[in-house]
Amino acid sequence: MTESHLGDGRCVDLDGTRDDARLEALSPQPLLTRDYETRPSLVYERLRQQHGPVAPVDLLGVPAWLVLGYREALRVLQDDDGWPKGLENWRARSEGRVPADWPLGPSLEVNHVLIQGGPGYRPLRTAWDAALKPFQDPRNAQANRLKAAVTAYADELITLIGQGGGTGVADLSAQFSRPLPLMVASHLLGFPGSQGDDALMDMWRVLDAGPDAEPALERLLATLAELAAVKLKEPGDDFPSYLLAAHPDLNLDELARELFMLLGMTSDHVGILVSNTVVEVISGSGDVRASLSAGMVRETMNRVVMRKPPLVNFVPRFAAKDTPLGRYTIRAGDPVWVSSAAAHADPLFANHVAQGSTISTRAHLSWGAGPRQCPARELASTVAAVGVGRLFERFSHLDLALPVDQLPWRSSPFMRGLRSLPVRYELASLPAQPPVDAPAPETPDTVVPDPSVRQRSSLWRYLTGLIRAGR
Ligand code: HEM
Repeated sequence: MTESHLGDGRCVDLDGTRDDARLEALSPQPLLTRDYETRPSLVYERLRQQHGPVAPVDLLGVPAWLVLGYREALRVLQDDDGWPKGLENWRARSEGRVPADWPLGPSLEVNHVLIQGGPGYRPLRTAWDAALKPFQDPRNAQANRLKAAVTAYADELITLIGQGGGTGVADLSAQFSRPLPLMVASHLLGFPGSQGDDALMDMWRVLDAGPDAEPALERLLATLAELAAVKLKEPGDDFPSYLLAAHPDLNLDELARELFMLLGMTSDHVGILVSNTVVEVISGSGDVRASLSAGMVRETMNRVVMRKPPLVNFVPRFAAKDTPLGRYTIRAGDPVWVSSAAAHADPLFANHVAQGSTISTRAHLSWGAGPRQCPARELASTVAAVGVGRLFERFSHLDLALPVDQLPWRSSPFMRGLRSLPVRYELASLPAQPPVDAPAPETPDTVVPDPSVRQRSSLWRYLTGLIRAGR
């Protein structure tokens, strides 16, 4: 290798491959700029031009490596020993160089399965897989109950929107895509009746990171700890009870943290997937609508997650030892953030995605890759597919109320989704009532609270307020 020593002590491989500069010495540029908010793809391309597949960036005052290359992303994701998670592996943090008030601290310092490394991780992940299985295995009654519940929740929300009139305008994000997964999360968590609704509203406040986010987080964690205590005493057919059965050593705090993780992932990411899929169907070619009526919702969703992954940047991993990646040597303990959004735009991946083909590739990274990929892919896809399916069945017309390029997006260091989804709708006329002697359709009456309970719930009052506002 031909090397040249730069004035600042850096060592560059003149064959065009390696720069041995330390992360901090590269004075990385802030990632989360106005440009990133509005056109993240341009930011990724600029970084790729300048640095190649791995770029130094500044994340709200903390330097990190962003992995933009598809091949490099796979290398990191598939090698959990070489690139473990776990904040204890972060050199700058151990040396006290991560500010105590770093804005990302609160979300990363909650030590649950998504963030955790070390010996505790494996048994926890195994327990997650076991606890999710009943909801994801189509042979299990729980999976059918879940589907029936999602259908019923979607119908409830659509009926509520319809109270604003048979035709009208609605914000499908606030009135459908966001509440639907929250209601599903409440079902998974086994909150009795609508009792979880206040907690769900608090989850919303936490995700929106407004001024009331901090007290909301405290209340939410307290409610989840109470729920955990109830499930410990009286296990039910729900996720917390299944997780405890698979991992009896979890204490109440640990269980509450895992429930928080489930609530966050379900409500935010699934909501984004629902909204993005709706936009794709409404604004896409006739083929997309046709494929929906041909029952190819899953295929449409696969395209959507590939083009617009809800989780754009993954939580950090750390180099176990000095390791070359892209044009740089990543030092042991340096944080590395894999960007699925940037990796999907890498020409190596993008040029191999057949644009015209009816079946899109599954080689994308939207659900992660390697041993730490998403354990809830089936569940999340089912919820989104059932929800989107009901929308297009119950509305005979759905059109965007804004040009697609003017829809407002919200970005965080981790996710990207629509802030609102204004649509003009027309409800389809209701199907005729079944004859009285027809067998009753399967309804999840044990999971859908009776209407009077709904009226009293804070989530419902909020949603009802949105209808009036929309008129
Ligand atoms: C559209 C919805 C979702 C998307 C796009 C998504 C995507 C992902 C991705 C990309 C990862 C890997 C992150 C990494 O490697 O750092 C992940 C991990 C994970 N997801 Fe999901 N997810 C979704 C929904 C859910 C839901 C609903 C749950 C829970 C019910 C869930 C539970 C998890 C867990 C526990 C992990 C951590 C796995 C581990 O580290 O071993 N996800 N998800």
